[in-house]
Amino acid sequence: MVLVRETVMADWQALRDIRLEALRDAPYAFGSTYADQVKLGEAHWRQRIARGGTFLAFVPEVSAPEPVGLIGGYPEEPGVVELVSMFVSPQARGHGVGEALIDAVIGWARARDATSVHLWVTETNKHACRLYERCGFTPTAERQPLPSDPALAEIGMTHPL
Ligand SMILES: CC(C)(COP(=O)(O)OP(=O)(O)OC[C@H]1O[C@@H](n2cnc3c(N)ncnc32)[C@H](O)[C@@H]1OP(=O)(O)O)[C@@H](O)C(=O)NCCC(=O)NCCS
Repeated sequence: MVLVRETVMADWQALRDIRLEALRDAPYAFGSTYADQVKLGEAHWRQRIARGGTFLAFVPEVSAPEPVGLIGGYPEEPGVVELVSMFVSPQARGHGVGEALIDAVIGWARARDATSVHLWVTETNKHACRLYERCGFTPTAERQPLPSDPALAEIGMTHPL
């Protein structure tokens, strides 16, 4: 069973811990680095929760009460929600947690009357690309260096709502 819910203030340490786990486990997937984010204090994580659109996933059979997944959505430009920070812990992968997290951000974007959800994904991250395609995202013509490792390229994907 996969449970997804939006973060509340009491989650700030759990949010920090899974975000740092993500940056350590999959540095090729994110524009930010562990070295930068490990320095951020409580106020940063609380602000991130306060702005809304951050979701955690729980699979009680796998690791209750700790979250096993993270995703974020934020308004990038009028009508467009940016999907960020997608991560599923290695022990919970392959069970649909990623899809449940994407559904949460799409629902959040719809509730804000967005007309599309956009994301950046490293072009060599085939598991993530296939998951996004299964969930209705299609590649755009956008391509840019990954900020944390410019030797890698990321591509844009979009999902109309
Ligand atoms: C990409 C990611 C979010 C997918 O989450 P998930 O909940 O495992 O998603 P799914 O259940 O749909 O499985 C996705 C793929 O992983 C495969 N998989 C299954 N078990 C797995 C395991 N134990 N370990 C790794 N991958 C596994 C699935 O077969 C599927 O493969 P395919 O679609 O390429 O054939 C997750 O692998 C992850 O967090 N990766 C590192 C961070 C990352 O890449 N984030 C994306 C940033 S844009």
